[in-house]
Amino acid sequence: MKGFIDVVVGLQWGDEGKGKNIDALLASGDYSGVARFNGGANAGHTIKLGDKTFVGHLVPSGGLQENIELFIGNGVVVDPVSLTKEIFELKGLGFDVSERLYISNRAKLVSYTHPLLDAAEEHYKSKGGKSVGTTLRGIGPAYADSRARRILTVGDILAADFEEKEKELSQYHANLLLMYKDKYGFEMPAGAEEKKKEWLDAVEKLKKLKILDVSALIRERLQIGKNILAEAAQGAMLDVDHGDYPNVTSSNSLPANASLGLGVPHTYLRNIYGVIKAYTTKVGGGAFPSRIRDEVLEKAFQDAGGEYGSTTGRRRMVGWLDIFALRYAIALSGVNKIFLNKADICIGEKVKVVTGYKSGNKVLKEFPLHLKDVTETITEEMPGWGEKNYGVTEKSKVSPELLKYINYIIDMLADLDVKIIAVGTGREREHTIAWDK
Ligand code: IMP
Repeated sequence: MKGFIDVVVGLQWGDEGKGKNIDALLASGDYSGVARFNGGANAGHTIKLGDKTFVGHLVPSGGLQENIELFIGNGVVVDPVSLTKEIFELKGLGFDVSERLYISNRAKLVSYTHPLLDAAEEHYKSKGGKSVGTTLRGIGPAYADSRARRILTVGDILAADFEEKEKELSQYHANLLLMYKDKYGFEMPAGAEEKKKEWLDAVEKLKKLKILDVSALIRERLQIGKNILAEAAQGAMLDVDHGDYPNVTSSNSLPANASLGLGVPHTYLRNIYGVIKAYTTKVGGGAFPSRIRDEVLEKAFQDAGGEYGSTTGRRRMVGWLDIFALRYAIALSGVNKIFLNKADICIGEKVKVVTGYKSGNKVLKEFPLHLKDVTETITEEMPGWGEKNYGVTEKSKVSPELLKYINYIIDMLADLDVKIIAVGTGREREHTIAWDK
């Protein structure tokens, strides 16, 4: 075994700011490529380079680094419209990625009908007050079709029978949409025909890109001693098998899936980098125990932290750092190194952290099956640090309040064999403090 794979995962509900950390890791020169292994265009990884900002939904977070190869693995669901738009956008920023972007022929193809089905399913669930608040990118229906073995793969678009297969699937979807209309009153949004045309045009563009056996290619790179960074979409708490089901996404966002989603033996996985924010955010449905119940305070966090979705523009709910949930996420992921982001963002005189959950009178020992069963949180309060730490790059310049906060987190995770390696204090790559080596 010559090269290795390091994995970057979110340890909260997504939106931890992984893009910035991935960008910094890639800039270290330790990796020749970056690979996405799960999810689809529901993700939104923001990277900044000087005055250039790029939000990658499908293109892995190395778009702004010329020497980095970009891999989209087997476990991803690829929306050709989103992908080709991103490539175009990157070109506008001066980065032509088409020669260094490799798309797995086994990755699954999101059809123009998948977002419609996503909307129909959400409409149906909303009747029972159970909508998930998805990104409406067709992710759930695409993974459902994948598991039911009827979706198209990216490789299929190059085959002679593509049109026939596509017709068969869209007919199947049309029948489902009719059912949602007749039984549940789902109205098809306007412009469905244009969406189809846009999709077919994007498929034509996709055909010109490098579609191949990405799994074999990554293994080849590893064999010659190159290292790859694997980036997870979403966060551990949204993992389909381990999150607060059904308020989750439809793929596994935990790092173990880097092996399956890329088709590389797990023995290649080395460091598992976990990413957290100094507070927590969540979008979509489901309970959020650590949520800040004071609307004014929550809004101030949203504004200061730019907490609105990079994919949907929705305002994110904001909560205190939830150490109980974090311990669960770390235990599931095997994270050994943590990036603590947005430590400069602090509103108010005091901050809280959630250290435990109660359900009725019972203090929970294990992470609950359903977060809606949490009736109360156990919290600790500490002094806040206002705006004092924005842009700080040296440990010695950190305000005593923030230092106390970070040391508290470290203490609370002491038994888990993890360390905080970097603390983010602003949007720019250099707004980072090296913490524990
Ligand atoms: P889906 O992945 O679009 O099906 O959405 C399922 C749930 O995951 C919803 O609550 C979404 O808000 C959430 N979700 C999906 N992707 C992201 C993300 O990248 N960041 C944060 N939440 C996400």
